[in-house]
Amino acid sequence: MGIIATEAKLSNAAPVVRKCCALIHHQQDKPVQPDISVKHLNKVYADGFRALNDINLDIERGEIFALLGPNGAGKTTLISIICGIANISSGEVKAAGYDIVKDYRKARESIGLVPQELHTDSFETVWGAVSFSRGLFGKPPAPDHIEKILKELSLWDKRNNRIMSLSGGMKRRLMIAKALSHEPQILFLDEPTAGVDVELRRDMWDMVRKLREKGVTIILTTHYIEEAEEMADRIGVIRQGEIILVEDKAQLMSKLGKKELRLHLQHPLETIPRQLALEPVELSKDGYELIYTFDSQQEQAGVARLLRTLGDLDIEYRDIQTRESSLEEIFVGLVNE
Ligand SMILES: Nc1ncnc2c1ncn2[C@@H]1O[C@H](COP(=O)(O)OP(=O)(O)OP(=O)(O)O)[C@@H](O)[C@H]1O
Ligand SMILES: [Mg+2]
Repeated sequence: MGIIATEAKLSNAAPVVRKCCALIHHQQDKPVQPDISVKHLNKVYADGFRALNDINLDIERGEIFALLGPNGAGKTTLISIICGIANISSGEVKAAGYDIVKDYRKARESIGLVPQELHTDSFETVWGAVSFSRGLFGKPPAPDHIEKILKELSLWDKRNNRIMSLSGGMKRRLMIAKALSHEPQILFLDEPTAGVDVELRRDMWDMVRKLREKGVTIILTTHYIEEAEEMADRIGVIRQGEIILVEDKAQLMSKLGKKELRLHLQHPLETIPRQLALEPVELSKDGYELIYTFDSQQEQAGVARLLRTLGDLDIEYRDIQTRESSLEEIFVGLVNE
């Protein structure tokens, strides 16, 4: 308990300090690695439905990991298992170094969860609910901490309101405040910004980044792919209960991303000139656009060659546009593969 209390106090400190703390833990207690480790995890629901199939995943301390996948892919199931809400069928899961079955309490204490479904029709006040959440984890009252979170989440003015009187977006923020009440090392956000306005979404992103700076490990699911593009260090894609890809975001975008160059021609072409037959070039239906597509990783020599050839052929163009594929396009490509 003493050690946990120390960690709780330190959870606002810089990551460096926390690393030292982890080292001390290592000497005094079992090693504490506040990351997530999932090994050969399977989940078959009571009705026989196999929702997760041999999931293997490691999430490092202090990273923002975005879990993407279509509806029903198994994201919430995976999160529910790590948080101890759903039972494991087989496999092993550790959170913050603790086995989530054998060492349930310690594992759960290290986790904050903002669930996808809101259960918030309560007469309780905002302040009361957040304070109570903290108490559930056996943490001593910390009004200063709770004041800070409520202010950060712009809920301070509503602290004495009953939860049922909050708007939908405020309820979602309240769920985040509750999840942060016990200063968890790991935070799960299951669709945190569904139904949230643009400004609040920005605020939440800022808040998540601040938490990461403090060394909190963050796992989020989202259907707004731009959110993952903006926030995540790494991306995992899950489809029909299987992880089909885990990749550093930047690498993913350069590996699977495509670049496109569009040339708007002065005069329409009927066909692609044979000098360009070997190039990855398409002609628009009206003949006014040449579209050249290439891998982001490829060197740009092809573009120079294309422009030179067009010059040689006296094909004039009045405008050039380039664009890169977004994470969304990459994601759609992956999931439909
Ligand atoms: N209690 C349950 N009993 C049987 N099947 C379930 C149960 N809960 C979830 N499932 C099934 O498991 C699959 C995965 O559901 P899950 O909620 O994990 O998906 P998800 O990836 O979170 O989807 P979404 O993007 O819609 O939130 C779905 O086919 C769902 O119907
Ligand atoms: Mg879900």
